[in-house]
Amino acid sequence: MTTMDESGGGSGGEGSSRKPPSIGGDLYHSRDLQESLMECRSAMLDFAVLPIVHPRAERLPNSTQNRVDRFCWPLTRSDMLLSSGQWSTMIVGRLSKWLRLDSKTLSEVKASEAALKEEFAWATHLGLAAVLAPPPAPGVVCSNYARQLNHLIVKAQMGMNVWLEISHGDWAVWNRFRCLCDYSPSLQVALRLEGSQIEAADEASEEQKWLRWMGEPIRSMLIKMSDFVPNASGYPTLPPKMRKVVVRFYERGVQFVLTGRPRHPNGLLPYQMYLVHLCNKSASTPSYREQFESPFYDYLQIPLQPLGDNLESQTYETFEKDPVKYARYEEAVKQALSDAAKRSPPDEDLVVMVVGAGRGPLIRASLRGARAAFLDHRVKIFGVEKNPNAVITLLNSWPRGCSERVQIIAGDMRDWKAPEKADVIVSELLGSWGDNELSPECLRGVEKYLKPTGVSVPCKYDSYIAPMSSHKIWADVRGLSKGPTDVDPSIAASGIARFETPYVVRLFNFYHIDDPKVCFTFDHQPRTEEDFLQEDDGKDVLERQTVMTFSAKEDAMVHGFAGYFTADLYKQVNISIHPDQFSDGMFSWFPLFLPLREPVFVKKNEKMMVTFWRKRSKDKVWYEWSMETESGQITPIHNPTGRSYAVNL
Ligand SMILES: C[S@@+](CC[C@H](N)C(=O)[O-])C[C@H]1O[C@@H](n2cnc3c(N)ncnc32)[C@H](O)[C@@H]1O
Repeated sequence: MTTMDESGGGSGGEGSSRKPPSIGGDLYHSRDLQESLMECRSAMLDFAVLPIVHPRAERLPNSTQNRVDRFCWPLTRSDMLLSSGQWSTMIVGRLSKWLRLDSKTLSEVKASEAALKEEFAWATHLGLAAVLAPPPAPGVVCSNYARQLNHLIVKAQMGMNVWLEISHGDWAVWNRFRCLCDYSPSLQVALRLEGSQIEAADEASEEQKWLRWMGEPIRSMLIKMSDFVPNASGYPTLPPKMRKVVVRFYERGVQFVLTGRPRHPNGLLPYQMYLVHLCNKSASTPSYREQFESPFYDYLQIPLQPLGDNLESQTYETFEKDPVKYARYEEAVKQALSDAAKRSPPDEDLVVMVVGAGRGPLIRASLRGARAAFLDHRVKIFGVEKNPNAVITLLNSWPRGCSERVQIIAGDMRDWKAPEKADVIVSELLGSWGDNELSPECLRGVEKYLKPTGVSVPCKYDSYIAPMSSHKIWADVRGLSKGPTDVDPSIAASGIARFETPYVVRLFNFYHIDDPKVCFTFDHQPRTEEDFLQEDDGKDVLERQTVMTFSAKEDAMVHGFAGYFTADLYKQVNISIHPDQFSDGMFSWFPLFLPLREPVFVKKNEKMMVTFWRKRSKDKVWYEWSMETESGQITPIHNPTGRSYAVNL
């Protein structure tokens, strides 16, 4: 036996193929531990789910005297049968199935409470990594069950997780339970697949329900051996729709537990072998992107501020490895220069300004683009950069007075007095949400240097918003010890700041409640002083307010919003992190997550009116957001005055 995987969801950090699935056996009938472990070992299982109470000592809620007392048996087997390392890596404890914590009979409730406490204490004593808790009884309001489990979790403040068994059709039961348990990170889902329901259901109409589970902390999936069907040689196989479900969750890093009694004469092994074969054969090979990104799945990062701060060498180095971004810029510059060349006589130089040049990759991409355009014209490039450390790198590549084609200018583009006008202004000042690294503010300072026929690359960018659900990400935001920025002490003390901050995060364990919609749009084109004056009617043209209406695809909890961007570089050349138009292979940007202070429940088809503001003062830019639902729920406006988070100008 290898060990159960308690490292968390996702398939982080693996090589070019996926790890084999982690599979356990539910040995509910086990009377002899050593024998059961032998059975698991010979079935090549990774772990075993064992009843915490020995079956011979099983108590019943309504018996006046339980068998432990009657026969003087200990509650269960000795801890000395295994080493503590084996208990903690090979065994998941199963809590008794008979527990009736929400019974109408008080004596049953009391007996169940006492038993739960006792079993929990023993599991903690053994140092088990997890216990499997029975499903809340159907049709019963499970408040006391949730309360008792929550009490034990809170009291123990433990490393031990509780896997709550939930049938795959019972999302509402899970939702209620996790809300009552206040999103405890120790409470996770053991999703029980109901084979007959899966096979009978219409796949298309069920799709959203499966997607919704992607936002939940599913730690394991329980598969009944009675749901397997024998193939022509008598070996167990899963029916087609179950196969798809299993493979899909395997790709999400979920582990499996075989439950019930094996029907094949060779015991558990044929089931284990089938699952391994199915996953190996049917799961997609992790793409380069997946391998690169998996260590970052659901990991919260504070957005960079390349204008206010100076980026470090390592950050530039990471950007520069992107195999797609610079190729797209090169193509855009090539096309823009080819078009510019058609408009100007060959003896006139074509002028490119790379503003925010960093360590020079866009200058190089522009030089390559110019070469690829086979121009008769000479191309002159100005590289403007305000980070003095990056300027040192630039000057090493293009020393002053030594390069007739490339001139480096140290300083802020907003203050730069350009000696001439440009055919193309190239920049990459985009954040995960498009304008959130203040590209609009910076480019506003240089648009006046575009020739009347000149173009900005990018010429336009859109930010997108989608309401999303993610138990894990929201709970992680709440778990941050303090707000990420220096904020007013009263806001810091209230703990609000962490919910009024956008996070860069490679979203993984999440669900889009509706598709993304455009939030803010900015475009860049030649603008004369006169244009600026005409625009200036007292309105801040870089501020925005957008109201978007979404409709929930399923009953769901809204935990916040996913933010994406697309940018048109030139004509048909673009870059995008919008999930439906993603620039394949590009890894420079992860999405943004903008949380809600409190999760909001929405019914299927319910409308959500979401408002986002982009606001500015003389020294900062910030976002505010709020949501109202058709059923009348209204969130407060988050981040008023930029009190918790702002981007410095
Ligand atoms: C996201 S980085 C991109 C760097 C480089 N172009 C690349 O693609 O690797 C943005 C760069 O713009 C610079 N920058 C931001 N605002 C600027 C401003 N107002 N004037 C000059 N440079 C600026 C930053 O210092 C940083 O080097």
